Amino acid sequence: MQIFKEKEALKKQIKALKNDKKTIGFVPTMGALHEGHLSLVEQALKTCDKVVVSIFVNPTQFDNPEDLQKYPRTLEKDVEQIKELSEEVIIFSPPASEMYGDSVTSEEFSFDGLEHQMEGKFRKGHFNGVGTIVKKLFEMVEPDKAFFGEKDYQQLQIIKKLVEKQNLNVEVIGCPIHREANGLARSSRNERLSPLERQTAAFIYQILKQVKEDFGTKSAKEINDWVLAQFESQPALNLEYFEIANADSLVSIEEEDRIQKYRAFIAAYSGDIRLIDNIALN
Ligand code: PAJ
Repeated sequence: MQIFKEKEALKKQIKALKNDKKTIGFVPTMGALHEGHLSLVEQALKTCDKVVVSIFVNPTQFDNPEDLQKYPRTLEKDVEQIKELSEEVIIFSPPASEMYGDSVTSEEFSFDGLEHQMEGKFRKGHFNGVGTIVKKLFEMVEPDKAFFGEKDYQQLQIIKKLVEKQNLNVEVIGCPIHREANGLARSSRNERLSPLERQTAAFIYQILKQVKEDFGTKSAKEINDWVLAQFESQPALNLEYFEIANADSLVSIEEEDRIQKYRAFIAAYSGDIRLIDNIALN
């Protein structure tokens, strides 16, 4: 098991792998790994000769300093979990200075409007932070394939756009959402929920499943009204947004055009913990 903290050491190893004509799969993460992350690593191991997993809590993508401070950091446990999957994985876990030097700032990106929808409206600067770190990581790891979860569907679309606009030579692969037994989408933030909150949070997925069922027969407005009413009746969860949006452009549904592909998206708070989830509708 190789663990690098310095980018120069990582780059040297990548160069050696490239010389040996090995294909490189890459799974960027912020650690506190769970089965959702591990499913991405497994997918990468199946299709690439060598897999790099980065573990870095990226300060520039947090719009809320408290969320950054409380973000779980469990490096030793993360390493153990990856080891159980494969001893061959390379872990890159740099300090912030390796990624940002003295200037912890984001590059400004245009993602052709994707960045203004949903998460972009509620988390100012978030996608500039994500774009900045993923671009830096891609430059260091030079992956053939990079694996991202549909859990963060908007992020996945934005990374595809980043690759297209910057002409990066990497294939971006979206992987299905991994859920807890009760349906709650796995997330590092779930660790901060009490057992009762964790049970209650499964409500989000129950709503999404019903939305999917109703999408064929009810109008978007009817569905929207129903979702808002459901959350009104569930005081333990505070709805931030519900959207039915085009799966490619992420633009909110306006008229009933069921030829396009749509997804439903929810962001909601359980106490001060922000949870997001989404589902394909057609
Ligand atoms: P993080 O939240 O750690 O997630 C790392 C990757 O795991 C992302 O691609 C995310 O979509 C995926 N993932 C998380 N939970 C998942 C689940 N339940 N099922 C499937 N995939 C899941 O996303 C980030 O980190 C950061 O923004 C990052 C891309 C690393 C940039 O800092």
